[in-house]
Amino acid sequence: MTVVSLVVNGKQVSREVEGRTLLVELLRDRLGLTGTHVGCDTSQCGACTVHLDGEAVKACSVFALDCEGAEVRTIEGMANPDGSLGVIQQAFQDHHGLQCGYCTPGMVMSAAALLKDNPNPSEKEIREYLEGNLCRCTGYHNIVRAIQAAAAELGSTRVAAE
Ligand code: FES
Ligand code: FES
Repeated sequence: MTVVSLVVNGKQVSREVEGRTLLVELLRDRLGLTGTHVGCDTSQCGACTVHLDGEAVKACSVFALDCEGAEVRTIEGMANPDGSLGVIQQAFQDHHGLQCGYCTPGMVMSAAALLKDNPNPSEKEIREYLEGNLCRCTGYHNIVRAIQAAAAELGSTRVAAE
């Protein structure tokens, strides 16, 4: 066992892990952050998507030990400081971007990564970006609408702040 230290949702944490321990196992089983889901374990579904040093990654394809000193953000870190839903989470709720919700944490984390790099994506760009996130329920239309609404909301917040 080796100790890995990292920052998760703004908090410094250290845990002993094995060399084979995956980031998603560290988050869910050792840190209790079960909002990050496991849908396939083969890097296909995207349910486990989190941010690693600001980039969207599939946490089932990253070893925990490789995250030494890194900053990780999970779906639990997407809420507002008062615990209310963040802009993207609220947009998913408002635009019915989820049904069973299993894919939703990964979708929200991917959407956040997309909007950071491309604040005003086209529908095509959103659909292409979400290729690594599978949803078995929604048909994706409302997920795309939710992300478009979140982009508009975040854009107007930026304008108001300027
Ligand atoms: S659980 Fe990681 S991609 Fe499916
Ligand atoms: S809402 Fe059920 S898998 Fe996407």
